[in-house]
Amino acid sequence: MKIITYKDEYKSDVINLILYIQNYESKINLSLAEQPDLNDIEKFYRKNGGEFWIAVENNRVIGTIGIMNKGNGFGIMKKFFVKADFRSRGIGLKLYNCLFRYAKKHKINRIILDTPSVAVTSHKFYERAGFRKITKADLPIEYNYPDRDSILYYIDIGAIGLTDKVTKKMIDFYKGNKSDIRHFLKVYAYAQTIGKLEHLDEHTQNILELSAIVHDIACPLCRQKYGNTNGKHQESESEALLVPFFEEFNLSDDDLNRIIYIVSHHHTYTDVDGLDYQILLEADFLVNADESNYSMDVIQNFLHNVYKTESGISILKSIYLNIDK
Ligand SMILES: [Fe+2]
Repeated sequence: MKIITYKDEYKSDVINLILYIQNYESKINLSLAEQPDLNDIEKFYRKNGGEFWIAVENNRVIGTIGIMNKGNGFGIMKKFFVKADFRSRGIGLKLYNCLFRYAKKHKINRIILDTPSVAVTSHKFYERAGFRKITKADLPIEYNYPDRDSILYYIDIGAIGLTDKVTKKMIDFYKGNKSDIRHFLKVYAYAQTIGKLEHLDEHTQNILELSAIVHDIACPLCRQKYGNTNGKHQESESEALLVPFFEEFNLSDDDLNRIIYIVSHHHTYTDVDGLDYQILLEADFLVNADESNYSMDVIQNFLHNVYKTESGISILKSIYLNIDK
């Protein structure tokens, strides 16, 4: 299965899929004449800065999604369908992720959609993704939709703080283990501070913060499986936990792979290939030195062999070495 931007060669396949789901599954009795956008994706979607994607398997269309750009940061999400035989395989989420990333990139932050009230499974999807139901009177822009017992949903993706959502999920993940929760929150705070003091660009800062939040994700599993949280065990167990953990968060493959790489190397102090990785090592040590009562020798050794950023060095000295920065 691949997801591509719409091409006209798939036009009849797209129309057939959508009309079938609308009329045979949802029974909302919609004709092609009532949805002229399907006949001219270029005009109705792309011309105004929107886009339309299709999921294709064996050269047949099995899923669709589109966004119309209405200006002023508003967008309308349209034609989100996955063929019946292909549902529950994450194809809808992949289509939605394409739309989400496009919308973020093009600053289309406020997205509206209408959906038939009978499409209960898709309502759950929207609600998990953070959409909330609104009434016709709440519509922030003028928007015509086929008013056939429809439910309206709205989301402001600009208002969602990804790190906040990931932090909340990480707290839940630790199931009340207060020392694990305290630990990651402290590492996150140091990482965030050092990253900002070092003037990381916004993207690298984000990767650093997300990596810091999840860096010890493998600890509970390692305690259970090996009886300890040895760094090398953590490194080898992290990836399999991170992939499902982040599934709902719409990260690009590159970002997810970078977080996996950093977390899977956060006890490796050689070949540190970026400031995101470097700062996580420094932040984690700042917390570990306290929690594990490291000796002055260990702290000096880390200072000389691991620490590199000016801010990290200064904070380490300020806390543990009590010497002038
Ligand atoms: Fe840690």
